[in-house]
Formats: sequence, C-alpha cells, structure tokens
Amino acid sequence: MSERMLVALLLVLNYLLVAGGEQANGDLATLLSLMDTLKNTPPNWVGSDPCDGWEGIKCKNSRVTSITLSSNDLAGQLSGDIGSLSELETLDLSYNKDLTGPLPQSIGELKKLTTLILIGCSFNGPIPDSIGNLQELLFLSLNSNSFSGPIPHSIGNLSKLHWLDLAENQLQGTIPVSNGDISGLDKLHHAKHFHLGKNNLSGRIPPQIFSSEMALIHVLLESNQLTGNIPTTLGLVQSLEVVRLDSNSLSGTVPPNINNLINVQDLLLSNNKLSGFLPNLTGMNALSNLDMSNNSFNPLDFPGWFSTLKSLTTLKMERTQLQGQVPNSLFRLINLQTVVLKDNLINGTLDIGSSYSNRLRLVDLETNSIVSFEQNDGVPNVKIILTDNPICQQSEGVESYCSSSQASISYSTQPNHCYPATCSSEQISSPNCICAYPYTGTLALRAPSFSDFNNKTYYSMLEEGLMQSFKSHFLPVDSVSLSQPNVDSTKYLKMNLQVFPSGQDHFNRTGTLSIGFLLSNQTFKPPKGFGPFYFLADTYEHYGSSERLTESSKSSNIGIIIGAAVGGSVLILLLLLAGLYAFRQKKRAEKAIDQSNPFRRWDTVKSNTEIPQLKEARMFSFEELKKYAKKFSQDNDIGSGGFGKVYKGTLPNGKLIAIKRAQKESMQGKLEFKAEIELLSRVHHKNLVSLLGFCFEQGEQMLVYEYVQNGSLKDALIGKSGIKLDWIRRLRVALGTARGLAYLHELVNPPIIHRDIKSNNVLLDDRLNAKVSDFGLSKSMVDSEKDHVTTQVKGTMGYLDPEYYMSQQLTEKSDVYSFGVLMLELITARRPLERGRYIVKEVSNALDKTKELYGLHEIVDPAIGLSTLNGFDKFVDMSMRCVEESGCDRPKMGDVVKEIENMLKSAGINPIDESPSISSSYEEVSRGSSSHPYNSNETFDMSAGLPYPKVDPV
Ligand SMILES: *[C@@H]1O[C@H](CO)[C@@H](O)[C@H](O)[C@H]1NC(C)=O
Ligand SMILES: *[C@@H]1O[C@H](CO)[C@@H](O)[C@H](O)[C@H]1NC(C)=O
Ligand SMILES: *[C@@H]1O[C@H](CO)[C@@H](O)[C@H](O)[C@H]1NC(C)=O
Ligand SMILES: *[C@@H]1O[C@H](CO)[C@@H](O)[C@H](O)[C@H]1NC(C)=O
Ligand SMILES: *[C@@H]1O[C@H](CO)[C@@H](O)[C@H](O)[C@H]1NC(C)=O
Repeated sequence: MSERMLVALLLVLNYLLVAGGEQANGDLATLLSLMDTLKNTPPNWVGSDPCDGWEGIKCKNSRVTSITLSSNDLAGQLSGDIGSLSELETLDLSYNKDLTGPLPQSIGELKKLTTLILIGCSFNGPIPDSIGNLQELLFLSLNSNSFSGPIPHSIGNLSKLHWLDLAENQLQGTIPVSNGDISGLDKLHHAKHFHLGKNNLSGRIPPQIFSSEMALIHVLLESNQLTGNIPTTLGLVQSLEVVRLDSNSLSGTVPPNINNLINVQDLLLSNNKLSGFLPNLTGMNALSNLDMSNNSFNPLDFPGWFSTLKSLTTLKMERTQLQGQVPNSLFRLINLQTVVLKDNLINGTLDIGSSYSNRLRLVDLETNSIVSFEQNDGVPNVKIILTDNPICQQSEGVESYCSSSQASISYSTQPNHCYPATCSSEQISSPNCICAYPYTGTLALRAPSFSDFNNKTYYSMLEEGLMQSFKSHFLPVDSVSLSQPNVDSTKYLKMNLQVFPSGQDHFNRTGTLSIGFLLSNQTFKPPKGFGPFYFLADTYEHYGSSERLTESSKSSNIGIIIGAAVGGSVLILLLLLAGLYAFRQKKRAEKAIDQSNPFRRWDTVKSNTEIPQLKEARMFSFEELKKYAKKFSQDNDIGSGGFGKVYKGTLPNGKLIAIKRAQKESMQGKLEFKAEIELLSRVHHKNLVSLLGFCFEQGEQMLVYEYVQNGSLKDALIGKSGIKLDWIRRLRVALGTARGLAYLHELVNPPIIHRDIKSNNVLLDDRLNAKVSDFGLSKSMVDSEKDHVTTQVKGTMGYLDPEYYMSQQLTEKSDVYSFGVLMLELITARRPLERGRYIVKEVSNALDKTKELYGLHEIVDPAIGLSTLNGFDKFVDMSMRCVEESGCDRPKMGDVVKEIENMLKSAGINPIDESPSISSSYEEVSRGSSSHPYNSNETFDMSAGLPYPKVDPV
C-alpha cells in the first residue's frame, strides 16, 4: 500500500467521521493521489490545504481551479484521479519531459476546463475521445508529445475552441470532419489555429474543414502524409494568414481561387506532387513568403506576376521547371530578401538590375542554364550563387558566385553597454552583465514571413516583445537573451532563449511556472510577421536551496491528517498503518542516505557499472586529511582561488600532497563532484597534475593532488616565485602544456576540453616541467555526437575564446585559443587583460614581420634573456595562429606540439629528453640558501645534456 493511498484512506475516514466533510478536502485527496504517480511535485505541497500557497495551484472558494506546473521536472504518470478536480479551469503541465503514459479518459470529467496545455511532455497512446466533453475548452495544446492513433472526431464538439495544437506527435488517420451525427473539425467555427503538422496524418484534406464560416488564421498541416488535391474551399477562408501544406503528397493543380486569400503572408506548398500550371497569385497582396519548391508543375516561362507581389520577401521555387529569364523587375520588390530558384531551366543572362531591393541578401540559381551575369563585379550585400550553370565553366572572374558556400546564420544578444561578468559555476552573465541562473529553452517560429535571419532587428523585436510581456505580467525578469538561431529541415526558425531573473540570481518556482505559462498559453504574442511559435523549456535546476526540501518533509501531511481523522474506533487500524508507515520511512531514510553519499558504495567490490573507474585515486577520510595538513593550519595554506583554499600536506610515507578544499559557497553538487573525480581519474599524463584521491565527508569536498613544487607559471612569470624563466625554459613550458592538452584532446576517449587554460593553471614541477591543473571546468565530449558541445560559457576573461563566447559552442579549438594567449603571456609576461589592454590586440598591433624580433622589443619580457631567441619568430607566428578569430583557422594541439618540438630542435635541444631532477626537494635547497635553484642566469651545459644549471647540494 502506498503512502498516498494511506492518506486517501484516512481522508475517507475523516470524511465519514467529521460530519459533512468539505469538498476542499476532496481536492486534497485528489492531489495526494496524483502525487502518488507523479514525482517531483513542488516541495511546498505539504499541509492539508492546497489552497494555502501550494506552488502552481490556484483556488476559488476553496476549490482548485488552476494547476500550472510547467518545466518542473515532473516525472511519472497523470493518474485518472485528475477527473475529480471538478472545478479545474486551467491545467498546464508543459515541458516535463519525463511525464509519460496516456492522458486518462477521466480528463473528460473536467467540465469547467478552458485551458489544457501539455506541451513537450512524453504522453503517449491515443488522445481520449472524452476530450470532446470539455465544452468550455478554449485552448488545447498537446504538441510535442508521442500521442498516436487518430484525432478524435469528438474534438469537433469543442464549439468554443479557439486554439488547437496537436503538432509533432505520431497521430494517424484522416483529418476528422463531421458526417451525420458524428462531429469533426469543420464544426470548430471559432478556431483560429489548426496546428497539426509533423504527424502521420493521411488521406485527403477534407474540403469541409475550409468554409466561409471558419475563422482560421493559421493552418499548419506540413510534414504529414496527406494525399489528393488541395481543396478549392481553401480559397473561402478569407481570414487565413499562414498556410503550410508542404512536405505531404498532395497532387493535382493549385486551385486558382487561393488568389482570393488577401491576408495570407506565408504560403508553403513545397515538397508535394502538385502539377499543372501555376495559378496567377497577383491578388495575394500580403504574400511575403512563397515556397512551391519540389513539385511537378508544367514547364513554365518565369511568370511576370511574381514581380507584382508587393510584400514578397522570400521566393522559393526550387525544381519547378521554370524556364526563360528572370526579369530584373523581380529584384526591385522593395521587401525582397531571398530568391531561391535552384534546379530549374532558367537561361540567358542574370540581371539583378541597378535598383534592386536593399533588403536583398541571397539569390540562389544553382543548377540552371545561365550563361552570363550582368553584375559580374558583384552585388553589394547579396550572395549570388550560380554554381552548376554554364557561366561557371568560364575560367576567370567567376569564383565569387560559382562556389557553393552556404550562408550561415548567427546572432546572439550582446551585452547592454557593459562588460560581461565572470561568473562562477553554472551562472551566466546576463545582457546586463549580472551573473545568474537563467530559465532556458528553445523558441521556434513555425512560419516567419521574413528570411534574412541575420538581420538583428528581428531578434531585437522578439527580445523587446518578450520583455514587455514579462513586465506587463509583473514577472521578475531582468533581461532576455537569444542565441544560435538555426533553420531546421522543416523550415522552423529555432533559437535558444535565456530569461534572466531580476533581483536575485535565480528564479523561484513561482517564477518559472509563470514564465512557462506565459509562453505555453501564448499569452506572449510575437510581433506581426513572426507567425505561429512554440516554446520548449529546459528543466530548471537552480531553485534556491530552501526550496530543495527533502522528500521526507512532505510526509508531514500525514501527521496533520491523522490528527484530523483520529476517532476511537479507527485507532487500532491507525496503529497498524503507523507500523507500515514507519517501515516505509526507514526504507526511505536508507535511500536518502544513499542519495546523499553517492560514494558510499565505491569501495565495495561489485562489478556494477555505476561504480566509477577510479584506478589509482582513493577515498580519504576527513580525519586523515586533517592530520596530513596539520589541521589545515595557516602554515599549510599555500593558495586560494574562487573555489576555496589549497593546503599542503604530507602523507605518512613522506610524499607531499596538495589538498584543494572547497568553500561552502562553491561546493559542487554531489553528482558534479563525483563526475569531476571520475573525469580526473581517467587521465594520466606527465604534463597533467595527477589526482591522488578525494574526500567527501562531513560536508566537505576535497581533492587531493600530487604536490607540484614550483608553483604556477603565472607566479614564475611575474617574478613571485624567484624562478628565472629564460627563453628555452619558456619553450619547454609551452611544449609541456601543449602536450598535456594534446593528450586531453586527442588521446583521451571521449576527449576532454579543459576550458580554463591560463598561466595560473599551469604548474611547474621540480624540473620545471609544465603540469596542467584545475580541471574544474573541464568538459568531456561524452554526450555529444558532433564535434562540439553547446554549453554555458565558462572560462577566464582574457583567455576566453571569443567564438565560443558568441556561439556558446565549445570545441577543442577554444582551448587552442587560450593556449595562444598563454604563449603571448610567455613572451611578454603581461596579464592578458590589463587596464583595458588586451594582449592579443597589443601584440598583433605591434607586430612587424620585417623587423628584428618582429618589432616586439617593447613588449617582450626583459627577463627572457638577451641571447638570441631561437625560434622566436616561429613561436610568435604559432601563437597568432592559435588566436585566429575562427576556430577552424586555428591549429590542433597535436600540430602545436610538433612545431614547438621543431623550435627546440633548431635551438639544439632534444625535446624528447626529460630534464633530470636537480634536487629531491626544493625545500631542502632553499633552507640552506636564500636563492632559488632556478634563479641562476647561467647558460646551459649542453654537453652534459642538462638544460638546467646544477645546484650544489647543501
Ligand atoms: C494576373 O491576374 C491579374 C488580375 O487578376 C491580371 O491583371 C494579370 O494580367 C494576370 N497576369 C498574368 C501573367 O496572367
Ligand atoms: C531560354 O529558354 C527558352 C525556353 O526553353 C527559349 O525559348 C529561349 O530561346 C532560351 N533563351 C536563351 C537566351 O537561350
Ligand atoms: C532589418 O529588418 C528591419 C525590419 O524589417 C528593417 O527595417 C531593416 O531595414 C532591416 N535591415 C537590413 C540591414 O536589411
Ligand atoms: C518568488 O519570487 C517573487 C519575485 O522574485 C516573490 O515576489 C515571491 O514572494 C517569491 N515566492 C516565494 C514563494 O518565495
Ligand atoms: C492565456 O492566454 C489568453 C490569450 O491567449 C488570455 O486571454 C488568458 O488570460 C491567458 N490565461 C491566463 C490565466 O493568463
């Protein structure tokens, strides 16, 4: 028996015992029973009155009228008990990817429901027929689930319905229309939106669904398996603005009367089997986006009437047997942005004319029969593509328009007159440069009427619209950011949306529920011309810790109800049940302990895949480490960083260790910490600091590393550690660092991107070998099939790859960029970003390859030594290649290694040689003399094969 059933039983008893039990308790019982099959309901769903501030619940007269729990990480199934919430008007469970199972029949009992939104969950099975009983329903969105089976005829009974979105499911069968007593979609006279795209619907488009009685503005039937003709009734629906019938198997001719549809902005009929002649569409005054590509039209001379479509932004007529010449009047249409006429029989001369639209960006005439091009010298701002035309057989002067490079789309919201903040952990710098945890997801425009997706104005309009909408609903939003726009194969314009909280660095649950609802309920309306949209949110994981209550606190419901329900005769039963309950609690407590210490079972030997491959790293107890680090005394404190402090310690065998002890504020989640340990224990290379073990006990997170004697490269460069780094030593440090990185990128499987390469994170051992440390931000490529991962931008300003910053796409080349900055630092010993001066700019500005030292005398660190700097030019060249703007122009780390090896060779040094250790311990040396073993200026004794001067034993 489950706990919730127990509670429900108690409630029934309560109802029987306490005379006339209130209906509100009925809603409580229903919610508790829903919670039995739903995981991750809000932690504050405790107590006996759901109307008393339960998150996502609204009430009227002590009855539940609204449940909105979007992007809440809800998992499990929606139980049939939902039908008992008889006063419910709004139900929004969108963006809960783990919400699965069927939509229960009993949904039909919610007679007062006006709004049912279940976007982006994993519901499956058929849409229940009973949905037709929801007589008050205005808004029905079941899109982006796994519903299968037919669209129920009964939906036609929803006479008030104004929004119907069933897109992106696996619905089959025909589009239901009425027939005698049976209802159908043609009865939905108030519906403005039929969004049925991306399903498996088949059969003809029934002529009945279009009539002059319909009020439709968006008809989206794309990407189904519909056959037969486009019904001529389509021309009767004067209100239409967007018509997408593309990617079906429609045949026959395009009915000429669609010319009557004077409000249609988007008409997409591509990828069908339409035939006959194109009708004259001159009447469609609002038409901006016309795509009839890939059909079987009769061969046709390029129609002159295209040039009369005053609103046209986008004309796509790929593979439609168009022939003859394109008149230059087409390009004079003032809104024209894109013309794609690939794979036709267009011949003669292409002439864009001199007064072409200043909005024009792309003219793609690939695979036609064009023999000459009037504007041979290029057309400013317009990409012309004439690949695979006779003109491209000429040998000269055709390169610019005969290569088939695709124009890429890019945009990301820029900082609002501020410098992006450097944020810790998962936080992101908002457009107002404040670190916070944004609410994120994908915004998809299903039929934008524009096509110049690089025009920033459109994104700004969206950003402003969103902000206005959030503000007018008093949501605590600071700013929004859009990024990574892309057009998917079904012509949706998708982009990432980040919504940043105001006042705090995270949203509370009420905040995300409200933002989610504003987008799922279409309360936000995009500007005109943006067409229908949907939003799919990611799970939000950054509620404050106070809201992350443990599961056990929920059971306080029971106490309250027991109190209410106790009556003499049920006492014995209660005692019995209490026993059961106690047993369950014990189980739960055990589970909780397991969850709170993911390492509990690491040391037990089981061939369980959950146990990480730890190889050499071991688990230390807190007491052990405390002893080794002399109670974490001041003396043993050897440094600190954003994460906390580093202590030096000595193992009983005398080996020195460095203990990284996380501060409370910067502790990672258990699983994150576990992941980091697993990651670190996978890598073994002499140029990487190795992990010896870890401690996860008594609320501490500590990592135990080998002790690297000579501190960081940064300290050495700024002269803090008394180490003299001459040119050859610098080359060696660069080589070691490069080797460590090349290992991470090229030899570890899956590869690891370090993400925070900087001089602070390169340590020098007793032989001045470089050892790369601090994998705190490292990203394993394990989850990505492609060669990049999309992540929140992290790293250190000055070293951060600008391309990664803009695109948020992390590749190995971002490390290469940071490494390039580090090379410049090796040359100059300057901080990469100092008083507004950026080292990359400084060096590239000063660079003059005709001069000695490339003209960098002024900038080169004097401590580098006055002797000839073998390979200096090559080193500078390499560093400039590493900091190329575009990742693909940067070398791979493996290539960098080879080049630096060559530089060393040409300086007469064998890069394969290990430099021998000079002393067993730096401390022993320094005790006897105030000078550092490496502060000598002596030249190398090459004959002895020792690049470093010998130090006399003390
Ligand atoms: C298209 O129709 C308009 C009127 O509807 C007419 O004036 C025009 O000549 C027609 N154009 C073509 C090319 O048939
Ligand atoms: C272009 O093609 C059309 C129709 O196929 C033909 O009538 C015309 O002569 C061709 N023009 C040129 C310049 O080749
Ligand atoms: C970008 O789009 C806006 C809005 O449609 C328009 O006013 C502006 O001229 C466009 N800018 C460019 C460079 O095409
Ligand atoms: C959630 O945040 C909003 C605004 O930041 C605040 O007004 C509200 O009181 C918070 N709600 C809870 C339950 O903390
Ligand atoms: C949902 O959106 C509609 C408009 O699309 C609006 O009228 C309604 O008030 C919204 N519902 C709520 C509860 O805000």
